[in-house]
Amino acid sequence: MKKVKDIGICAIDIYFPQTYVNQSELEKYDKVSNGKYTIGLGQNNMSFVGDREDIVSMAMTSVQMMMSKYSIDYSSIGRLEVGTETIIDKSKSVKSSLMSLFQERGNTSIEGVDTLNACYGGTNALFNSLQWIESSYWDGRYALVVTGDIAVYSKGAARPTGGAGVVTMLIGPNATLVFDQFLRGTHMENVHDFYKPDLSIEYPYVDGKLSIECYLRALDKCYLEYKKRFETTTTSTFSMESFDYVCFHSPYNRLVQKSYARLIYNDFLQNPNNPKYQDLLPFKHISTGKDSYINSKLDQITLKLSLDDFKRKVNPSTLLSKECGNSYCGSVYSGILSLLSNVNDLNNKKVLIFSYGSGLAASLFSLRINNSNSLFKTNDIGRISNIKERLLNRVKTSPEEFSRILDIREKSHQMSGARTPIDTLDYVSPGTFYLDKIDDKLIRHYKIKPTISSKL
Ligand code: ACO
Repeated sequence: MKKVKDIGICAIDIYFPQTYVNQSELEKYDKVSNGKYTIGLGQNNMSFVGDREDIVSMAMTSVQMMMSKYSIDYSSIGRLEVGTETIIDKSKSVKSSLMSLFQERGNTSIEGVDTLNACYGGTNALFNSLQWIESSYWDGRYALVVTGDIAVYSKGAARPTGGAGVVTMLIGPNATLVFDQFLRGTHMENVHDFYKPDLSIEYPYVDGKLSIECYLRALDKCYLEYKKRFETTTTSTFSMESFDYVCFHSPYNRLVQKSYARLIYNDFLQNPNNPKYQDLLPFKHISTGKDSYINSKLDQITLKLSLDDFKRKVNPSTLLSKECGNSYCGSVYSGILSLLSNVNDLNNKKVLIFSYGSGLAASLFSLRINNSNSLFKTNDIGRISNIKERLLNRVKTSPEEFSRILDIREKSHQMSGARTPIDTLDYVSPGTFYLDKIDDKLIRHYKIKPTISSKL
């Protein structure tokens, strides 16, 4: 196969559920102080699903939506990778379930399976797909990366940081979002900040404060790794000024604000004599040591120093995560889609991306927007995904209903044997796949909720 160039994301879309709960209503319901979820965490709304939708149904809806909205021929896909941590089977991959969409259209020659590592699975799936297209094994077809989760927490402080959504990306040459080859900073280590050792419950074991420290430490390490590679391939010095936009994995928006501030802090540590950082000089001696992580004085100064830049460079990518919550593996990619939906003139802009998965695996990487010779332009992708209108058309449920539905999920998760889901189909929107039943061999059966015009 001839070597190709400009490999990256040719199209991107997201499926998020029809239902959401409002975070300020949730504050009242949970009897926490006003502003704790909306200002303290920076979240507006949170998506959730009952037991009628699972990771397979959501991934099927997301793939089908992408294929039909972009009129992609199912035979043009040669690789399909899934990144998720929403496990419903200890052996069978979500990818194998997605094959039902392809096999009924005659395409069974598709490489790739699932990747698991908390919120990082989608990034591994993406990297595999980019590398496949660059390799001697590539057969000229597109790859699809399907990545997302249903993020649910037990009652308590972590619950408002849940969410749900599945992103699908079409990966190929002459892409709209072209990844910078070689430019990646990666950091991985063995920690227990967030993990799911008990398969009988959906909820993670999470040490919230440790997870924040791990996230920020990984960001620091990735910054240095990326910088090393950046400065060996270009003549410029690496800093946040090298980028027009920055997208982060977003457990909640306040952490994204702090993460951009942390990158500015790293810029300061690289260049402490720059007068614009003079307020940070008292912190030079703690550098990226333990005392620098949960440090409200340092946060206050870096957040202030980075605020204008944050509004311009980061805020446009935060729409979906503020509205839908954490979609774990889908989160950082929903950030890219939010950016495309919010900004008009993106040609040639440079975007830095931070992906973090607990446990932990993290990478900092980058892309350039190419609206010149790509099949779809960023404005087309923004228009086709239509996220603003779709967000407005969702159904707001009360915190009581949200809590009732999460109780149903919890109960349903613990049931065994043949069963039909407890929840009604009322909250599943037309055209969406849903779980119809689980038979006596524990095989899951899915259907599509008919659209009004459908004869089904
Ligand atoms: N108005 C404004 N701000 C408020 C208010 C209020 N009324 N009340 C509290 N806050 C602020 C706090 O000051 C704090 O701010 P800070 O972060 O700047 O210090 C913030 O809200 C959070 O409040 P806390 O009491 O510190 O934390 P809480 O006990 O609510 O837990 C946490 C927050 C740790 C994020 C929890 O929700 C959690 O464990 N979530 C899951 C783990 C997670 O998302 N980790 C991130 C990386 S890993 C991943 O992606 C899963």
